[in-house]
Amino acid sequence: MQIIQNIDALRLVLKHASVRAFVPTMGNLHDGHLELMRMARQAADARAGGPGAMTVASIFVNRLQFAPHEDFDSYPRTFERDSELLAANGCDVLFAPSEKDLYPETQVFKVHPPAELADILEGAFRPGFFVGVSTVVHKLFNCVQPDIALFGKKDYQQLMVIRRMVQQMALPIDIIGAETRRAANGLALSSRNGYLSHAELAEAVQLSIALKGLAAAVREGNAQGTFNVAAAEEAAMQALRARNWVPDYLTVRRQHDLSPIAGPCTDPLVVLGAAKLGKTRLIDNLEV
Ligand code: PAF
Repeated sequence: MQIIQNIDALRLVLKHASVRAFVPTMGNLHDGHLELMRMARQAADARAGGPGAMTVASIFVNRLQFAPHEDFDSYPRTFERDSELLAANGCDVLFAPSEKDLYPETQVFKVHPPAELADILEGAFRPGFFVGVSTVVHKLFNCVQPDIALFGKKDYQQLMVIRRMVQQMALPIDIIGAETRRAANGLALSSRNGYLSHAELAEAVQLSIALKGLAAAVREGNAQGTFNVAAAEEAAMQALRARNWVPDYLTVRRQHDLSPIAGPCTDPLVVLGAAKLGKTRLIDNLEV
């Protein structure tokens, strides 16, 4: 695996790749990222149908997507370990630019996703987050020029924003969404799980348990033809509050555009949640 910091060097190395598959990350990798890498390898080789495909991962902790009070400075940087893991999971090129490489001057041109997608849910609690994500992903796409890019469904709204960006900007990239990887008890793997104490780590699965409860309420309400969405969402949040969590939202949305529902609904649905456990904010979701 080659490790490359500079955009020109990256372009040179990728020049003759017949197919490029790309996994953008902020490092501190877990098996969810490594699964994306393995899927990238498979997808690239299958598309190429012979030698010449190249897989690329990036590690870049993107200041633009962190609010001033968030954990940019303390975000875990575990480069040595990450690069070994990527090399062992099918990565040909690791692009690891410094801030000066990717943002040599203040990034004043930014990608602003539409408010109806970017100012709800995560965007409502993390203003500017999706501008930061869209801007860096668009820029990384320009550097790597991938044919295929892979993202985890754990960041459900992020995946949707990126799909819409690619579609609206006519970027010639196939976006693949991968299922969330979970620990044996059901806890969604996340870099931020590393912030949790031993006791919090055992408690953290309760977010997915609350979401499972909400998903069950959706199925039951739909089957009965009567469903008080607000009451079910409140009950799910209350279950977490009773265990000393501070939920931002637990909510039922349409998979298609994350719009809310008012009652029984036959569209494909997803339940999404974000809640603080101690100082750590966790997110998760389940398609219903
Ligand atoms: O999901 C992440 O790790 C980040 O938001 C991403 C897509 C790498 C952009 O910085």
